Amino acid sequence: MIALGTFFKYLSLIGSFTAIGTLLAMAFLLLDVEGKFSIQGYKLKRLLWGAAIVWSFGVAGTIIVTLATALDQSISFALDPTVLRSFITQITLGQYLFFELIVALVVVISAFRIKRILTATFILLLSIIGLVAPVFQSHSESSGSHGLAIGSLVIHVAALSLWVGGVIAIALLDPKDRPIAVSRFSELALWSVIAVVASGTVNAWVRLDFQGAWNSAYAYVVIAKIALTLVLVSIGYLHRTTLALRERIDWLGFGRLLFVEAMIMVATVAMGAWLSSIEPPERPNLPEFDPAVAVSGISTPPPPSWSRILFSYEPDALMIGILITAVALYIKGVLVMRRRGDNWPVGRSIAFGLGIAGIDFATSGGLGLYAHFAFSYHMVAHMVLGMIAPIGIVLGAPITLALRTLPQSRDGTERGVRGTLLAVLHSKVAIFFTNPIVALAVFDGSLFALYFTELFGGMMQSHVGHLLMSIHFILAGILFFHVIIGIDPNPRRIPHLVRIVIVFAAMSIHAFFSVALMSSTTLIDQGYFASLKTPWLTDLLADQQLGGSIGWAMGEIPILLALVATFISWVKDDSREVKRIDRNTSRAAAMGQPDELADYNRYLQKLAERDRNDA
Ligand code: HEM
Repeated sequence: MIALGTFFKYLSLIGSFTAIGTLLAMAFLLLDVEGKFSIQGYKLKRLLWGAAIVWSFGVAGTIIVTLATALDQSISFALDPTVLRSFITQITLGQYLFFELIVALVVVISAFRIKRILTATFILLLSIIGLVAPVFQSHSESSGSHGLAIGSLVIHVAALSLWVGGVIAIALLDPKDRPIAVSRFSELALWSVIAVVASGTVNAWVRLDFQGAWNSAYAYVVIAKIALTLVLVSIGYLHRTTLALRERIDWLGFGRLLFVEAMIMVATVAMGAWLSSIEPPERPNLPEFDPAVAVSGISTPPPPSWSRILFSYEPDALMIGILITAVALYIKGVLVMRRRGDNWPVGRSIAFGLGIAGIDFATSGGLGLYAHFAFSYHMVAHMVLGMIAPIGIVLGAPITLALRTLPQSRDGTERGVRGTLLAVLHSKVAIFFTNPIVALAVFDGSLFALYFTELFGGMMQSHVGHLLMSIHFILAGILFFHVIIGIDPNPRRIPHLVRIVIVFAAMSIHAFFSVALMSSTTLIDQGYFASLKTPWLTDLLADQQLGGSIGWAMGEIPILLALVATFISWVKDDSREVKRIDRNTSRAAAMGQPDELADYNRYLQKLAERDRNDA
């Protein structure tokens, strides 16, 4: 059964990697024609379709084999529609695998229909999400340090899909289309390799623990993979030195090496597929059973204290990966500006850095750790993620930095990456969400939707749920503060008065929400905190009510700050407007043009006199 499981897993990995690599080439590596595919892009549709078919077949097989293995039954038993239906609808792993299958089928159906770069980019992101979904429920789930094991494997698979997928797609490109694709892929490949090696190493460490289980088939395969990775990295290095030769590149030789690289990758993926289909060796010194590990994936921390809140660290690898990528992209943008001799206010970089640090503290730091174990700490973390960190991110003006540093068109007709970002910023979706009412509804409305329905308890129970909740808090906060005090370009011009009204509305709705929580008499977490059996948390309702008052106290401050900031920018804008009018008037006067303002005032005066005379 393991062999069959590995075979189908392998098909789904190779199919998904090739589909993602092909979409990457269509949406990002090859030229576009004003936001639509170029001829080269169209040529890849058949490859995309074929890869997605292989992917769908691989996932369908994986669903059957996983079910048969879980029930310790035959394949034919697992094919029974009732059994199958309950697996894909009621069992989390079944649901995630079925989601991956749906995504693969969406790629099959849309392969010959997509024409636009934005659509291809959307399907590319959807494909990566579909591919990593089942990883959240893979056997990493059973290991200690849950956040590290699952997070690192998700990053491993996502980075592999771009690196291996990109190499396979470029190897299958028409040789004359390769030069334009390779020069852009080279940068992305470097980032992906770093992510693959770092995440693979972290995952191997979580599983094998550098003292213990290295004398196992599992460990030998990991070592073999490390060796093959070194070969792949050397080939990558050769590619980069060749590309540095510019005009004198031997593209035939380059193509041959690319083929060898793709073959080694395809073999290494087979090893990875096998690793993921077997149980890793038992870790030597597994900790004593802790109910919290089964529910939250984290062992119960000692009672909270200032030093434990400030200095504990329970790494959530996926969130750390996202934050490192955001910081690396931001630093790269600032370096590009510097290299060009353009200035980027250091205050913005500091604000952005503080925002990122706030998110890390509230997800992997001591606050993030205790937020899994007590509602009051959860609410502090929520306020940091949704109210405080977003202000830093927004004042860091990342979109402005991106627009100033992203590559422009490579041939004059291409819309390019920068053009695609502009298209996103001016899209109907962006215009809808930057409507202040919509931003307020997402920001405050979602509080009621989350905490006063069964959603909260469900989200706290699952790793994906917890991650999505944190990401929602961050994005809802960024959207709200972008609309109110944002520096970055906004498709809408929102008058200051409207912003102030929205801020007041946010304050009152938030106060109402907090009071409702403070006066709640029933627990809203569907038994999540109780199931952890945390010895130092006895009165859950009191802790929940404390969470309400914390929400009130902490929530109002940032909104108040936004109110003050809006007033200041209003005054500043007005004085800027006055200066502009004065400048225009004096310029007009200097050029002997009539002073419209003075003329207008004179006209009003005449009207007033006539009225007085008529009276
Ligand atoms: C430093 C190098 C690397 C290390 C330490 C490493 C380590 C690991 C570990 C520990 C796993 C988890 C296996 C499990 O689920 O128990 C894994 C999964 C995997 N690795 Fe790597 N790896 C490395 C490089 C690569 C490379 C270069 C490739 C392919 C070109 C690759 C392909 C895979 C695949 C396909 C999986 C299975 C992912 C899944 O579960 O869906 N790895 N790797």
